[in-house]
Amino acid sequence: MFDLRDVRVMIAGGSSGIGLSTAKFLIDYKASVIITGRDARKLESATQLLGPGASSVAFDAANSEARAEALARIGKLDHLVITLSGGKGAGPFRTLSEADLRTGFEAKFWTHFSLARDAIPYLNPEGSITFVSAISAKAANPGTAGLAAINAAIEGLVKPLAVELQPLRVNAVAPGVVDTPWWDWLSEDQKKATLRNKADFFALIYDGKGFFLTDESPHTLVNVVFCVASKLETNLQGLFTSLVQ
Ligand SMILES: NC(=O)c1ccc[n+]([C@@H]2O[C@H](COP(=O)([O-])OP(=O)(O)OC[C@H]3O[C@@H](n4cnc5c(N)ncnc54)[C@H](OP(=O)(O)O)[C@@H]3O)[C@@H](O)[C@H]2O)c1
Repeated sequence: MFDLRDVRVMIAGGSSGIGLSTAKFLIDYKASVIITGRDARKLESATQLLGPGASSVAFDAANSEARAEALARIGKLDHLVITLSGGKGAGPFRTLSEADLRTGFEAKFWTHFSLARDAIPYLNPEGSITFVSAISAKAANPGTAGLAAINAAIEGLVKPLAVELQPLRVNAVAPGVVDTPWWDWLSEDQKKATLRNKADFFALIYDGKGFFLTDESPHTLVNVVFCVASKLETNLQGLFTSLVQ
């Protein structure tokens, strides 16, 4: 479908989950993919799994010096995909700790923001930035107000940036529930139950329409790949892919 020969894509958070699967898709389309993450060993095994189209750079995207060094080392890029995870910020509002939510914002919102901003000098002006937010930003699920706020803040960046930075395309993909190591904070049984119940969960939130089920894997991956690879700017500029089905 796409020919991404000679196209360089950085996937921040590409050593695991959605980022790693996106890397596989893009390499299938012949892209040259640089995956990043903090854990060098995890990156090494991901790079081996991906094969010759992949290389990796280990750094903490939350650290401004490490970020600057890594971006300089990676050099020119056509596309940036940000799948960095956060973690903190879930839980019932009455007991949600401000410290946890601030940590969640630091880990996800601020790293996505800072990495996107710092990468701009290296990005092809006709390339793209794709943020990976979360369905919690649009959902109405109890216990996710903190996560919703973090991901809504990321999505809030998208439309103004899509205009301000054009012709660079800026999009966000909002996954539903995707089976990745992100859920490892749950026990094995809780994780299984959550993944099993996701259809009911979204049917409940979206009044049985099931529309947003299209956000789940593999659609999440396909949507990220489309945001990167498509040059149909009218469709894939400043839109969340859940609106682009
Ligand atoms: N899975 C889901 O159901 C789901 C649902 C909605 C939204 N999402 C969102 O989708 C995105 C990807 O999630 P995932 O499920 O693929 O998670 P994942 O499997 O845990 O992958 C997260 C990736 O981010 C890297 N990372 C995290 N913090 C980093 C930092 N400060 N600097 C550099 N790398 C960092 C991790 O590597 P290291 O740990 O080695 O740094 C890893 O490569 C996240 O933003 C998540 O919130 C996921």
